[in-house]
Amino acid sequence: MNKKVLVTGGTGYIGSHICLKLFELGFDVYIIDSFINSSHLNIANLKLINTQKKKNFNNKIHIIQGDIRDKSFLEKLFIGIAKKNKRFYSVIHMAGLKSVTESTFNPLSYWDVNVNGTINLLDVMSKFDCKTIIFSSSATIYGKSKKKFLSEDLPIKPCNTYGETKATIEKILSNLFFSDLGKWRICNLRYFNPAGADPSGLIGEKFCLNPNNLFPYLNLVAGGKKKFLKIYGNDWPTRDGTAIRDYVHINDLAFGHILAMNYLSSNKSQILNLNLGTGNGNTVLEVLKTFQKVNNCEIKYVFKERRIGDVTSLVADNSNLKKLFNWSPCISLSDMCRHSWNWFIKNKSTL
Ligand SMILES: NC(=O)c1ccc[n+]([C@@H]2O[C@H](COP(=O)([O-])OP(=O)(O)OC[C@H]3O[C@@H](n4cnc5c(N)ncnc54)[C@H](O)[C@@H]3O)[C@@H](O)[C@H]2O)c1
Repeated sequence: MNKKVLVTGGTGYIGSHICLKLFELGFDVYIIDSFINSSHLNIANLKLINTQKKKNFNNKIHIIQGDIRDKSFLEKLFIGIAKKNKRFYSVIHMAGLKSVTESTFNPLSYWDVNVNGTINLLDVMSKFDCKTIIFSSSATIYGKSKKKFLSEDLPIKPCNTYGETKATIEKILSNLFFSDLGKWRICNLRYFNPAGADPSGLIGEKFCLNPNNLFPYLNLVAGGKKKFLKIYGNDWPTRDGTAIRDYVHINDLAFGHILAMNYLSSNKSQILNLNLGTGNGNTVLEVLKTFQKVNNCEIKYVFKERRIGDVTSLVADNSNLKKLFNWSPCISLSDMCRHSWNWFIKNKSTL
């Protein structure tokens, strides 16, 4: 019997890569997604993969449209599974809103979707005695820090609404864990900067013309959809004056979830907070130059003033994740750049 995993937000950027891995590993994958920020390509291609591979695999990807704020929808799904005398092996909770900038202008939506949605999900999981969850948290919860490597024991001091919702969810998960000792298995994975795409070019990050992240921007400029990349600050105390971030390939990140899920299921009840990043930082200019080189393209850029709230460097201390799961990143910055561009050129006509 295949194990069943529920992935909320599973047609999104990170979720689709996790679902693909779960499917390849033989899990029955149940995705719930409102499709509010899904790439229709991801949806279509996950369905395609499902139908093409169904003949050889006896597991399936189920895509169910619905909103995590709708408790009766969640209950119906869990009732359906229980009626078949089955249960979810684990929940990977990715559904949520993720723009730092948007969260500042539209805080109520962020609290509603991220926090209320999670409370609904946890309530229904609890009712159906499904108590293993991996939560998509973020390095944003650390706020500003002067440390070279961010470790999990740093104070939680988010400096924007998005980060506050993530920190609040971690707090709720902690309260829940201690309210029902010995029952819950929880892992908060604090992502650094997910980048790249599956090498197939079938799934990737939804295109938008004003992305917040560096990689989508590089694609847009290299692909002629934007004139130049704006680099905020050339006077940071770094190797070349531009800010340093920890970019982790989306498939390395996805694999971290599989390891977390298996670790939780085969160990005693516990709550873990783990950084998911490579532990290596790259400056904006280093990423830009690598992107140009491996993809043989030109990216024009201009320097702008530093943005309020930005910091010099955000790099993970990932020693806990490495020690516990024996995880280490396998995919290089060059491949992140290649795979990101491959996704873009294969699908840019849909922009
Ligand atoms: N991408 C990043 O840089 C990053 C970094 C740290 C943490 N995260 C977190 O990881 C998770 C996934 O991020 P992503 O980059 O794949 O984002 P994404 O927007 O591509 O995926 C999120 C998915 O959730 C769905 N969704 C949103 N609201 C929903 C709701 N109310 N009910 C059901 N589905 C809903 C969206 O349609 C989307 O498919 C998010 O929780 C995000 O906050 C992302």
